[in-house]
Amino acid sequence: MASASAPGKVILFGEHAVVYGEPAIATALDLRTRVTARLAPGGATTVNGQPLTPAWHVHVVEALRVLGETRPVAFSTESGIPSAAGMGSSAALSVATCGALLALGGPAEPEAAARAAYDVEWSAQGGRGSPTDTSTSSHGRTLLVDAAPHAGLRVAWEIARGERRWRLHELDWGLPHLSVVVGNTGVRARTADQVAKVARFVGRTGFAKDVLREIGDVAREALPALRKGDAVRVGELMERNHRLLAILGVSTPELDRLVNAVRPFSFGAKLTGSGGGGSMIALTDRPNEAAQAIRRAGGAPYVVKPDAPGVEASA
Ligand code: PMV
Repeated sequence: MASASAPGKVILFGEHAVVYGEPAIATALDLRTRVTARLAPGGATTVNGQPLTPAWHVHVVEALRVLGETRPVAFSTESGIPSAAGMGSSAALSVATCGALLALGGPAEPEAAARAAYDVEWSAQGGRGSPTDTSTSSHGRTLLVDAAPHAGLRVAWEIARGERRWRLHELDWGLPHLSVVVGNTGVRARTADQVAKVARFVGRTGFAKDVLREIGDVAREALPALRKGDAVRVGELMERNHRLLAILGVSTPELDRLVNAVRPFSFGAKLTGSGGGGSMIALTDRPNEAAQAIRRAGGAPYVVKPDAPGVEASA
């Protein structure tokens, strides 16, 4: 028997622009998904006591395929990460499932879990963009995802797909006293649709490319601010990133309402992830007031701690 747990994540800077080769920064959250895998000789593969069903258990089906596990396995899963709330619940499930399967055969290294989980997410979601979510959940802490090298930052690993290549750099989180408050609009939006919407904009006008480059500049400017623990600067840059994402067309009136509502109680706020609905985040030292403001504005708040540890697996 083996089990693994993996954290959720939020993207702090650079969503969408990362698909076009600009940097992104993501941090792991103190909410986790745990998966236990028990070999069931002579039995059938099950998930929480139910027969494995591709339509419901696509991540488990893909994890078994990617890791070449053909023996029957009884899985049990439990998740403390709200689903469809921009907190990386699906990436965490992929990482924890791969972590548990790897641990059945020996030590499960975070890099191996990250590579397998990226393949799982890629197939499960019909060809997704970057390995940001799965690598952040596997590695934990805070990562800079960028093809370009950064002097002074350790590269945890590198992942390539086709022509594209991402280096996962480890970034020091200088703001241990701060919370992130996630505000979920409750509006469901598919990442693929938002990525396609941005692609249409990029195809139509050079202006969209300028906006993506400027989002990249914001992420690059955030690096020293995060390392130094300059919350005021990080907050300003989050606000700028939100405005640029709004220009790209991926914010919504609901997201703007939550970002505006939380501003008096935070250093800065922005939408997180693909937008079109989904969630926003605020960086704050007043998490309860920020959460109340989000609730009053019609959102569902979650107070979380960033920079959490990555996948933990044992057999
Ligand atoms: O919606 P999320 O949290 O899975 O984030 C998507 C981030 C994008 O940059 C829009 C796409 C990607 O694959 O990087």
